[in-house]
Amino acid sequence: MTTFADLGLPRDIVNVLRKEGITEPFPIQEAAIPDALAGRDVLGRGPTGSGKTFTFGLPMLARLAGAPSKPGHPRGLVLAPTRELAAQIRERLDAPAAALGLRVFDVVGGVNINQHIRALASPVDLLVATPGRAEDLINQKKLFFDAVEITALDEADQMADMGFLPQVRKLLDRTPKDGQRLLFSATLDGDVQKLVDRYMHDPVTHSTAPAEAAVDTMEHYRLLVGGREERGEIVLQIAAREGKTIMFMRTKHGVDRQVKKLRRAGINAQGLHGDKGQGARTRALEGFSDGSTPVLVATDIAARGIDVDDVSLVVHVDPPAEHKAYLHRAGRTARAGTSGTVVTLVMDEQRKEVDQLLRKAGVDAPAVEVEPMSPQLVTITGARVPQGSPLPPPGQPQGKGQRQPQRPNAAGGSGRGRRRPSRNRGGNRNRRSNAG
Ligand SMILES: Nc1ncnc2c1ncn2[C@@H]1O[C@H](COP(=O)(O)OP(=O)(O)OP(=O)(O)O)[C@@H](O)[C@H]1O
Ligand SMILES: [Mg+2]
Repeated sequence: MTTFADLGLPRDIVNVLRKEGITEPFPIQEAAIPDALAGRDVLGRGPTGSGKTFTFGLPMLARLAGAPSKPGHPRGLVLAPTRELAAQIRERLDAPAAALGLRVFDVVGGVNINQHIRALASPVDLLVATPGRAEDLINQKKLFFDAVEITALDEADQMADMGFLPQVRKLLDRTPKDGQRLLFSATLDGDVQKLVDRYMHDPVTHSTAPAEAAVDTMEHYRLLVGGREERGEIVLQIAAREGKTIMFMRTKHGVDRQVKKLRRAGINAQGLHGDKGQGARTRALEGFSDGSTPVLVATDIAARGIDVDDVSLVVHVDPPAEHKAYLHRAGRTARAGTSGTVVTLVMDEQRKEVDQLLRKAGVDAPAVEVEPMSPQLVTITGARVPQGSPLPPPGQPQGKGQRQPQRPNAAGGSGRGRRRPSRNRGGNRNRRSNAG
């Protein structure tokens, strides 16, 4: 068996991983960590949930160890598309960084910028940032990229798409030309070539997934629901299942509306989208992670990178806009060798669109006709009839004398706390033993 030490990672990091129950490198880690440690530019593609964060993050830390950083001048930089993902990356790298005497910090939008300015007045070795906030800090002359030795782009293909490319280019142009660059995603398609050509030197590609980043512990279904009304009822019944469920909608408005409907039916759901305040966004994700909110309704803002334990079902309430989004949304379940189910709700007029999408995604998803509480629906999703009494909107107190109703069996999600009771330290995190 190959170990993390065999890959060349320092003993301090190996010890931290062991404490978290992580002892055996995943394929992408085994393939790419040695090259990243050797200073090569790496283009890495591994399926969702295959451990890419450590694949780029740990070699970065190892290479930064043992030298000082100046305040405002980080030597390592990770760019990520969303605030939640940047914060998560920082959190995952905290312990291994501390073991090497390094400081990791994240700067993201939605947080008072003065907080970041104060934090950057002390040395930060590895900075994790969303592009917008990094640019703001640079413009205010509180952050400089002239000392950046290694840059990683997580979700690199998204960072290379129209929405991000101009900003990402500007930021990368500020880093030294000869710096090391690591580009990772579950889907590395054509767009990313623009970044490869301009910023990478003789990159080595490590791909442990076919173009369609299939995860073989994931089951996919197309649920033919009929019309909009039936779909509405079916969504409620699916949401009343036991276990953690993520529901994806196309629009922010759709998320808000769906959360309202679910809560009215007594289901403790929260919404996550880009128009919500950062406080609400953080609460929604925390509640979902710790199991107190079993249903998260989100736009594609939650489609990439977000790593929450024990999500057993992903529901495309609205089909995603393109096939890559399908793969990333789906990848919120069946992570790190665990199993999970993904269903796409298909109304009659959406059949053709969804067929095409799944074909492009390279996913084989049997079509099953379902009706509210039909046996097939129950078998595939664990649907139940919602039984709780109405809940107020998230964040608002219950009515007088009313306690938060607990739906029997449903509050915590099936495996709450079973794996990784504390995210960072001590918990037995050997995911492989949980492989389905
Ligand atoms: N070698 C390992 N053994 C066991 N668990 C691991 C290992 N490496 C990573 N993990 C865990 O696997 C989970 C998924 O890792 P990570 O979030 O890095 O996936 P990813 O490849 O970035 O997925 P995505 O494409 O969705 O961003 C994390 O909870 C992480 O702690
Ligand atoms: Mg990731």
